[in-house]
Amino acid sequence: MDGMEREDDRRLVAEVRARGQGHVFRFWDAISPEGRRRLLDQLASVDFDQIDSLVRNLVDEGPHRAILERDVRPPDVIPLPRSPVEREERARARREGEVLLAQGRVAVMTVAGGQGTRLGFDAPKGMFPIGPVTDRSLFRIHAEKILATGRRHGRPLLWLLLTSDATHAPTVEAFEQEGFFGLEREDVHFLPQRMMPSVDLEGALLLAEKDAISMSPNGHGGALLALRERGGLDRMRERGADLLFYHQVDNPTVPVPDPVMLGYHGHAGAEMSSKVVEKTDPNEKVGVLAQVAGRTRVIEYSDLPQAMAEARDTDGRLLFRAGSIAVHVFGRSFVERLTEGGLSLPFHVARKAIPHVDADGRKIEPERKNGIKFETFVFDALPEARVTVSQEVDRREEFAPVKNAEGEDSPATARRLLADLYGRWLRAAGVEVPFDAEGHVVGSAEISPLFALDQEECVAKLRGRGIRFHDTIVLAAPDA
Ligand code: UTP
Repeated sequence: MDGMEREDDRRLVAEVRARGQGHVFRFWDAISPEGRRRLLDQLASVDFDQIDSLVRNLVDEGPHRAILERDVRPPDVIPLPRSPVEREERARARREGEVLLAQGRVAVMTVAGGQGTRLGFDAPKGMFPIGPVTDRSLFRIHAEKILATGRRHGRPLLWLLLTSDATHAPTVEAFEQEGFFGLEREDVHFLPQRMMPSVDLEGALLLAEKDAISMSPNGHGGALLALRERGGLDRMRERGADLLFYHQVDNPTVPVPDPVMLGYHGHAGAEMSSKVVEKTDPNEKVGVLAQVAGRTRVIEYSDLPQAMAEARDTDGRLLFRAGSIAVHVFGRSFVERLTEGGLSLPFHVARKAIPHVDADGRKIEPERKNGIKFETFVFDALPEARVTVSQEVDRREEFAPVKNAEGEDSPATARRLLADLYGRWLRAAGVEVPFDAEGHVVGSAEISPLFALDQEECVAKLRGRGIRFHDTIVLAAPDA
């Protein structure tokens, strides 16, 4: 092959060929020297032993189903408070969490490295305009919560954002353009995650271009390794933060960070905690928490046998109803232990329609699933934790996922959930907001986290202000 002066390049090409992946050099003679370099650099980052073993395991789909042959039960969950005692316990958790925040012991991690393929937005999902009235972006909503929480407790929070090749550059650019949303730059760190090659259904590497193999982010489980490799844990250590509040960029209603959850986690001396919402439809596509052979785990909806998904307890509620909403708290020392000497979360296989360049150099946008992406999931760390806490929250308050362009879990549903949430805060503050029979605000409402972080603050700030609702209302930051 031309242009192969370096010995390590020659060795790499020989290895790629020996692994049966020599087709990736098919267009070598037609690509530029820069293109050749890019291809070689990408290939040098691939762990071929790992790919080979993942492809070998495709036949039995890995270990995920096997765990279900063991003893499986519903997990212990702190339920939504219904009695005065439970309400007092939740209030105590909040007070304890607030102390942790005031002591500067909390950092936030937002995972925002995903490709957002289902949404089909041509920028990182975090830039999606979701504010029901103002079109505030997801990033801005989270940033304002983090800023307001830091102000409330007199300690700015460290904010770590997981990015990837798919999102890093435009994310950093958006933060620059928006002046870091009012946050101090040194409080914000971007941690790019590792990428994994995609393969066709027979295990052959796919080409995204003539001079590039197809790669995708290694799943949100990559957050844990990125924390170590990209300096996130160091930053936390420097600032004395020993707790990490973890959430996904595509859920705008969750409190970031939530003092109640932090309080429960701290009180129990937990290593990893999770929020759940009650699953009421056996076919809802959320993973559920379970106790498997004495360890807490998330079982993906696709792995949960139908009989288990439909099983009910004596009250008629689903037995496996603890739906995970991908909000966690991690102890820093737990992440340090997990990532010591590399991280071995299992890879999950996702069959997808993956755009690629075919053998004749044509760009193909397949309609059917033609390939496989390999991803690790952060919740697979749960069984490694010695103590876990699971806390139930109200899905109307904290779960508004933005996944699809239309229909369920779309921008339209998330905007409505946001407007309804703010509408309820306003109603609690004595503002006459009309709701329809389904509990939706007639009109729209939006409250900046810098105006009020929660209902209590909203009520306190609006007392005696005589606010009237016409058909929309926006409460902005006091200094906006
Ligand atoms: P999803 O698994 O829902 O993926 O990610 P996605 O990228 O948003 O959308 P699709 O599946 O391509 O349509 C849940 C959260 O995890 C993050 C995403 O950015 C989102 O906040 N994530 C996912 C990462 O940070 N890295 C990954 O490799 C995968």
